[in-house]
Amino acid sequence: MTASFNGLNQIIAIDAGNNEVKVCYGSKLDKFCSAISDWHKRPQQEQHGSDDMEWEYQGMKGFGGTLAKIESEFGSHMYGGSKNHFDATMRILLAIHRNTNEKELYLAVGNPYDTLTKEEATDIKKALIRTHELIVNGLLKKFTIKDVIVAAEGAAAFQAIPYTSDLVRIIDVGSGTVNLISILRGRIVDIESFTTDYGMLTSKYGEANPFAIARGIIGDTSKKWKKEDKVKVVGGPAEIIAPFIKNHYKNTEIITPQIWTHDGIKFAPPIFGNVVGMYNMAVKKFSDLVQV
Ligand SMILES: Nc1ncnc2c1ncn2[C@@H]1O[C@H](COP(=O)(O)OP(=O)(O)OP(=O)(O)O)[C@@H](O)[C@H]1O
Ligand SMILES: [Mg+2]
Repeated sequence: MTASFNGLNQIIAIDAGNNEVKVCYGSKLDKFCSAISDWHKRPQQEQHGSDDMEWEYQGMKGFGGTLAKIESEFGSHMYGGSKNHFDATMRILLAIHRNTNEKELYLAVGNPYDTLTKEEATDIKKALIRTHELIVNGLLKKFTIKDVIVAAEGAAAFQAIPYTSDLVRIIDVGSGTVNLISILRGRIVDIESFTTDYGMLTSKYGEANPFAIARGIIGDTSKKWKKEDKVKVVGGPAEIIAPFIKNHYKNTEIITPQIWTHDGIKFAPPIFGNVVGMYNMAVKKFSDLVQV
């Protein structure tokens, strides 16, 4: 076995979404509810979802996954335009616990484009790069995070499709944000890229109507983007939003993310666009570093 083959087991990408956490670990994909909540004793150990988690970390105790969404006393869903917060760290650690037994790990994680400053990335890394001891559903795992890439959501999905030097506009529709990213010759054009403060689940009236949110996106991008631009849609609701985006931006396509594994290319659903791109970035960056 070659060094790089074994080393890939140490690389994991985690998109700690406002609604669902998406994980890419080679060709293994995982997705679970992002909710994190306070803990309480339950006389009846009802199962609410296949992702129910009871965790203990640094003297704290809580629920995660569907269990947290249903059994929380004090709210369970941290939303917002930044992923520099405790809930996002917990989502990442839970994702690791669910998917690997490796003792040393190299990570790629995401953050919305607009808030991804150097300081924010440093903060996110600080919470992650060290040794963690985490109990989930009674099972203790101890692992060390050696290094972390913090990727810009939306832009990361560009790394999940074949490279093009052309101008590409990426629309990453999430539950708390929409990342609207312009990429030219593989580089982000900042003045034509931004993150909205709305997403599919930010309205007090419930989940956004696909037509309405597409209208918002077209309105917000039309100052800078041209009707004939190449537009790529990604994120959970990509399939239901793209037809409405296409009414305005005629060259609109849905991204089919490609995982670049050692045994060839694997395809994933659009909700995994960012995490697959993050994984491909991590493999490029870390595969020379990791040891057998
Ligand atoms: N197959 C699907 N078809 C339509 N809508 C879907 C599908 N899968 C997920 N969704 C919707 O997509 C939204 C969540 O998308 P996504 O997982 O990309 O967001 P997120 O990454 O958790 O949020 P954010 O990017 O703001 O952190 C939810 O409103 C969910 O109901
Ligand atoms: Mg997202």
